[in-house]
Amino acid sequence: MRVSVIGCGHLGAPHAVAMAEIGHEVIGVESDPGRCEALGNGIAPFFEESFEDLLVRHTSSGRLRFTTDLGEAADFADLHFITVGTPLREDGHGYDMAQVIDAIRSLVPLLSRPATIVGKSTVMVGTVERLQKIIDDDARVPSVELVWNPEFLREGHAVRDSLFPDRIVAGLTSRQAREAVEEVYAPILDHGVGLILTDPPTAEVIKSAANAFLTTKISFINAIAEVCEFVGADVNTVAHAIGADKRIGHDGMRPGIGYGGGCLPKDVAAFTHRVGELGARNAHGFLTAVESINADRIPAAIRLIEKAHGGPIDGRTIAFLGTAFKVGTSDVRDSPALRLAERLAERGATPVIYDPAAIAATRELHPEFDYADTAEQAITDADLVVLATEWPEFAADPELPADTADLVRHRVLVDVRNAVKPGPWLAAGWEVWQLGRGPQRP
Ligand SMILES: NC(=O)c1ccc[n+]([C@@H]2O[C@H](COP(=O)([O-])OP(=O)(O)OC[C@H]3O[C@@H](n4cnc5c(N)ncnc54)[C@H](O)[C@@H]3O)[C@@H](O)[C@H]2O)c1
Repeated sequence: MRVSVIGCGHLGAPHAVAMAEIGHEVIGVESDPGRCEALGNGIAPFFEESFEDLLVRHTSSGRLRFTTDLGEAADFADLHFITVGTPLREDGHGYDMAQVIDAIRSLVPLLSRPATIVGKSTVMVGTVERLQKIIDDDARVPSVELVWNPEFLREGHAVRDSLFPDRIVAGLTSRQAREAVEEVYAPILDHGVGLILTDPPTAEVIKSAANAFLTTKISFINAIAEVCEFVGADVNTVAHAIGADKRIGHDGMRPGIGYGGGCLPKDVAAFTHRVGELGARNAHGFLTAVESINADRIPAAIRLIEKAHGGPIDGRTIAFLGTAFKVGTSDVRDSPALRLAERLAERGATPVIYDPAAIAATRELHPEFDYADTAEQAITDADLVVLATEWPEFAADPELPADTADLVRHRVLVDVRNAVKPGPWLAAGWEVWQLGRGPQRP
């Protein structure tokens, strides 16, 4: 099938390579000329596991190309994915829909034959109805159909989740749209992935509800971490034990500095605002609590760092391991790790930052910070070490604690992701501090 992917960012670019991987001919449309050129040359503009390999493979084979020209995509493809951004509005009252509306308004008049537009960007319920009116007004040809197909991929696993999703959801109203969705995803559906066909408002609510549930789980275990701190209990053991119940599960149950990134914070904020507008009081109160627990995680981490250090941290050098919002990506959008580094700097500490993937993105935002080329270099002469993104090379390297024990001024590790197994650190003479647990000393 000939498809276009309009908007080649963290969602669209991996989606474009995934569509090429399953056999489609793909044209990616990206309005940022620098990003478009890089992608066309097989260079990933951000780190995402196995993305660059597939990008190189399919740009070389000719099955995938990129352009800034929407007209080229309109001529080429029969199905157009919309994967542009939907940032939070500046007033926090829902999404800024400018990119989506602009993409649809620009594409539709260029279409000269029946086509299916498949929206993957995250939008608020009611959007499809609004966009359908634009299509009905602006289309030059009949049978331009709109589908909403929310995306659930996890950054850091974007390619794998695009190829092997847990399910595919499509909100649609016509047979043409259904057939187009079934055809474009056929190679994935053939592997047994479920296709949930529904109406557009239900598809829209499914995405908001999924993100609301994921953040609820994160805020729930973080609230329990707070309880554990009051009573001297161990939140990791609590999470492990309650997660053994299949109705609860272990995924998303690690306590830490809260959710972040380009999606969850803005999606929950937009949904909270919308349910408030709708007058859904219980949903509004519930989601407000989820957000407020999340907002308290950075202050909780700072309290832990000061406790571990034994007082205020102004004037101290802090080895700061990780600024990416999560492991597996270079994305620092709304990163709780980066926010923590900023707060520490505001308090007069000097974070010396190392991240295996996100240094360039962090440096762009904070040229004034100090950076290291390795974790060992960051730790050298530090007053304490903060582990803020759970990269395996920090969290699971059994050599790191011993290799760095003599480099640091005080062997104090504050792991605000509860990611390390303390054993090797304790054995090398470190104190280990984690959220929702008492200090562990050698
Ligand atoms: N990032 C994720 O993991 C993820 C997961 C699920 C859903 N989503 C949703 O997907 C959407 C995109 O998110 P993202 O993280 O990829 O954002 P992003 O900002 O990384 O990417 C958006 C891209 O679209 C481009 N663009 C904007 N308008 C354009 C136009 N008219 N024509 C061509 N290109 C255009 C931008 O230059 C940018 O490269 C959002 O609605 C987001 O909520 C993202």
